[in-house]
Amino acid sequence: MSTSISVLVVCLGNICRSPLGEAVLKHVAKERGLDVTVDSAGTSRYHIGEDPDDRSVSVCKSHNVPIKHSARQVTQEDFRRFDYILAADEANLRDLTRVQPKDGKAELRLWGSYLDNRAIPDPYYGGLNGFEEVYKQCENLSNAFLDKIFGASTQSVE
Ligand code: 4NP
Repeated sequence: MSTSISVLVVCLGNICRSPLGEAVLKHVAKERGLDVTVDSAGTSRYHIGEDPDDRSVSVCKSHNVPIKHSARQVTQEDFRRFDYILAADEANLRDLTRVQPKDGKAELRLWGSYLDNRAIPDPYYGGLNGFEEVYKQCENLSNAFLDKIFGASTQSVE
């Protein structure tokens, strides 16, 4: 039986971590042959309409992972549309809990809860190496999440 799921990755600005997480999760799911729809959003309004940060784009490019997104703010409708909403850090999770509607079906969790309970640190004020760290963390988190939902037997063979 093939399962199809939808996932929304959420951070604060929706220009650094979550568009990177969206790109990596899409890429890893595709490599594993899994049917996963992925989008991303921010809890804030700060960067609505902006492209991903140049450093997120550069790290994705270096790994040959396509990245394309226009920043948007999370909506109550997202809780009705998506199966899973994955928060980058605890502040994002707290803010999401505040706007979560009663009739939302999405499972809302810290993305790190599928692996090691670690938050994805905000790389905005740091250098490119912080973005490379976020990339690796998103790769590990994507695999941990997909293992949990689809089973570890769907891991791709390198
Ligand atoms: P993100 O990074 O939440 O990973 O997109 C940030 C981007 C912008 C700001 C903070 C975090 N900001 O304060 O403008």
